Parts: sequence; structure tokens; C-alpha cells
Amino acid sequence: MEYQKLGQTNLCISRIGFGGAPIGGADYGKVNDQQSILAVKAAYKLGINFYDTADIYGFGHSEKILAKGFSPKEKKNVFMATKFGVRWDYKKNKSYRDLSHCYIKKAVEKSLFNLKISTIPLYQIHYPDPETPISETMETLKKLQKDDKINFIGCSNFTADLIKKYQKYGRIESAQMSYNILDQRAEKNLFPICKKLKMSIIAYSPLAQGLLSGKYGEKTKFPNNDRRNRGIYFTKEILKRATPIIAELKKLGRQYHKTPAQVAIRWILDHPQITCVLVGIKNPKQAKEALGALGWRLTSEERKKLSKMGKKIIFKD
Ligand SMILES: NC(=O)c1ccc[n+]([C@@H]2O[C@H](COP(=O)([O-])OP(=O)(O)OC[C@H]3O[C@@H](n4cnc5c(N)ncnc54)[C@H](OP(=O)(O)O)[C@@H]3O)[C@@H](O)[C@H]2O)c1
Repeated sequence: MEYQKLGQTNLCISRIGFGGAPIGGADYGKVNDQQSILAVKAAYKLGINFYDTADIYGFGHSEKILAKGFSPKEKKNVFMATKFGVRWDYKKNKSYRDLSHCYIKKAVEKSLFNLKISTIPLYQIHYPDPETPISETMETLKKLQKDDKINFIGCSNFTADLIKKYQKYGRIESAQMSYNILDQRAEKNLFPICKKLKMSIIAYSPLAQGLLSGKYGEKTKFPNNDRRNRGIYFTKEILKRATPIIAELKKLGRQYHKTPAQVAIRWILDHPQITCVLVGIKNPKQAKEALGALGWRLTSEERKKLSKMGKKIIFKD
């Protein structure tokens, strides 16, 4: 396993992180809790020490499954990074943002309880909330740091401007963002601000929700309880335009004795600014496969070719 420092901290986190959205079991197709726990255990054995989750993933289920994957001793060796700030309105049946003092105070206790730990190593703001003053959110988080409820603060789905604004109120160590061959939007503004402020970049959706593994096609039908029915990747248009990229991943895979998924993850790791790639993992096989992205490199020509092909797929900002 390879490890890198998180932001300006002394925490060394694995370059492959365990993405905990699927194991929430609510919104990512077929998931089996027993397999999820085995996946966490397999990831630990393989050297993964960074586990990303959120209070909204399965309404706490992802956090609870993670906690079940480790012995109390193992828990001391891992960083369970959770997120807060997206809530569910049961009446309207939709999510909303909340970064208020009142909510954070309750959310942190709930996550600590679910994760069965006394301090959250990295507490990440899941999405911005334009209704709450930045000072209110950051003062609350700094007080949680003082009280040893959390160690470090991270953000996710922020624009570069917002990162600049938040950093005026306190230190944010990492920014989570979508980054994969099909979605390179973050390179333009987010990568430069993270470099300037010495923040870690944590990339999510490396496989474009599984699309870049090459196992899905235009005929794929996902069950109703799968976010991929509503997401940006599994539209007819993107599926069609991604076909030559998947063919290229397969070609490179044959050359390096790797799977298309491993090549797609490698493309991300080969960017010098990436600290950690979060791979959504459902079972031990997927954990093991993710690790095959380490220990080798694409040549700069190969990476450039994939980047160029991916840039043709334009997502609206
Ligand atoms: N901060 C945020 O707002 C945010 C947003 C999205 C994600 N994230 C984080 O980033 C993590 C990863 O992103 P993601 O889950 O959206 O997408 P992803 O990692 O691109 O795709 C994950 C899906 O791909 C499939 N897969 C995984 N390994 C595979 C392999 N070796 N071969 C073939 N298929 C494989 C699995 O689904 P199937 O087996 O069903 O195909 C898995 O659920 C999340 O779990 C979460 O922790 C954060």
C-alpha cells in the first residue's frame, strides 16, 4: 500500500480509500451486509486505512457497517472519515442542506455513536449550505476540535471560491470532489486552489459509478433503488460517448495485465496532486481489485491520450 499525508497534518492515509456509499445499502443497487463487512475486513488486511462514509449514506447504515468491520484494536489503526450536512425531509421525500450549529451538534454525536469511536479523525462538510453563515459552521467545528470530538475538518463538493471563503475561518485539510476520466472539471479551479492552500484532494467516483469498469453498456437496467438511474453517467448519450474510452481502458489493461477498472483508477493516481482515490466497494473481490491500481504507472502519453478522450465528454458545471 502507498500512503500520503493528509493536508498539513501528520496523518498518513492510504492512496486507495474505501468508499462507503454502496454499503449504506439504500441507494446503490443490490448490497449484502455480510459481504459489506467482509469487504471492510478485506480492505483492512490489504492496508487500506482510510474509510469514507457519511451520516446520510443509508441514514447511518454505512457508518454502522464500517464500525462492525473492525475489532477495537484495528479501529485505532484506521481513519473513519464521515460527512455531515445533507439531511432528509421525510414529508417532502427529498434531501436538503443544513450546516447549522444546532444540527452539527446532534450529527456529530450520532456519527460517533454509529462509528463507535470517541473522536472522528476527519469530519467533512458534505455539501455547502447557502443558508447558514460560514462563521457559524466553522466556529462549531473548531469547538468540536477543542472538545476532541473531531480531529480535522474536510470539505466536499465546494467550489474554489467557497474553499477560499471557508479557509478564512479555520483550517480545512482536504477537499473531496468528483474526478475521473469522464469528469475532469475539477482540474480547472479546484486543483489550483488546493495546491495553493496545501489541501489534499480526495477523488470520488473514480469508476464513474462502475461505468469505467467496462461491465455496463447501453442495455444495462439498474434496480429502482439505485442512484445510477438518476446520475450523470448512465444516460444513453454518455454511455455511447464513453464506449471508445472503455475500449482504450481494455486495450491498456491487456498491455499491463490489469482490468479496465484498475487502469481507470491508475489514471487518477498518476495525477501528482491526488492524495487518495475513494473507490466504492461492495465485496472483498472489489477491494482486492482496487489495490491492483497501485505499484505501476501509465506512461505520460497513455495518460494524455485518455485525458484527451475524456475531455470530449463535457458535463455542465
Ligand atoms: N462527497 C460526495 O458527495 C461523494 C459523492 C460520491 C461518492 N463519494 C465517495 O466516493 C466513493 C466512490 O464513489 P462512487 O461509489 O460514487 O463511485 P465509483 O467508485 O466510481 O463506483 C463504485 C461502484 O462501481 C462498482 N465497482 C467497484 N469496484 C469495481 C470493480 N473492481 N469492477 C467492477 N465494478 C466495480 C460497484 O458497483 P456495482 O458492483 O454495483 O457495479 C461500486 O459500487 C463513494 O463510495 C463515497 O465514499 C462521495
